[in-house]
Amino acid sequence: MEKVKKHAPSPLYSGNECVPTRTEPEPVKEIRDVTVGHPMAMMSTAPDAGQLIAILLKLVNPKKTIEIGVFTGYSLLYTALNIPDEAKVNREAYEIGLPVIQKARVDHKIEFIESEGLAALDQLLENIENEGKFDCAYVDADKANYWNYHEKLMKLLKVGGVCVYDNTLRAGTVAMAEEEAPKLLKAERKTTFEFNKSLAADPRVQLSHVPLGDGISISICRRIY
Ligand SMILES: C[S@@+](CC[C@H](N)C(=O)[O-])C[C@H]1O[C@@H](n2cnc3c(N)ncnc32)[C@H](O)[C@@H]1O
Repeated sequence: MEKVKKHAPSPLYSGNECVPTRTEPEPVKEIRDVTVGHPMAMMSTAPDAGQLIAILLKLVNPKKTIEIGVFTGYSLLYTALNIPDEAKVNREAYEIGLPVIQKARVDHKIEFIESEGLAALDQLLENIENEGKFDCAYVDADKANYWNYHEKLMKLLKVGGVCVYDNTLRAGTVAMAEEEAPKLLKAERKTTFEFNKSLAADPRVQLSHVPLGDGISISICRRIY
C-alpha cells in the first residue's frame, strides 16, 4: 500500500504565526507587526487572503470599494495600496494601523464611517446615486449579518462588481457535524453554513469558494445582474 505523504507546514504559517512572503508589501507587513501585540490579533485578515484580494483588486481596478468590519486596518491598507489614486474606501474604526496607513500615503483614499455595518450600508443606500456604483466590497464583520450585508451589497455593487466574504469555512467547522464543532464556534458554524447555502443558490452571483491556509477561506462573488 502506498504510504500517505506527510506535507511540511505551509510556508505561510508556523502555528498561528504567519511568515511574510515576498509579495507582501512593506507597509502591510508593518501593520501586521503592530497588530501582533493586540490581544485579538488573530482577528486580522490572513496574509494569504490579503494577497489574493490584492490580485483581485489589481484585476478589477476598482474606483470605489467598501470594507465592512475593520480591525487594525491590515486588509484596508492592502486595499488602499491596490486601488487607483482616485478610488475611495469606506472603513470602520481603527487606530493602531492608522499611522502606518498614513506613512504609506494612502489615507487620502479612505473615507471613514464609524457605525454599525448595516447602518452604514443603509446610509449609503439612502442616496439612490450610490446604487450600482461600487466596484468591490470586502466583508469581514459579524457573521450573523453576512446575508443582510449581501442583500444590501447586491444593490450597491455594479453588475460585474466583486464581493469577497471572509471566513466562509469558519475554521473548518462548516464541514463538521454539529456535535464535533467546538462549543464557541457552534453558532457561527450554523450561520456560516446557512450563508454559504444561500450564496450558492443566489442567481445574482457567480461564485467561487476558495479555501486558504489553515481552515481560512474566502468566497468570491461576482454580481452578474
Ligand atoms: C475579523 S475583524 C476584521 C479584520 C479586518 N479585516 C482587518 O484585518 O483589519 C472584524 C471587525 O469587524 C468589526 N465588527 C463586528 N461587528 C460589526 C458590525 N455589526 N458592524 C461593523 N463592524 C463590526 C469588529 O469590531 C472587528 O473590528
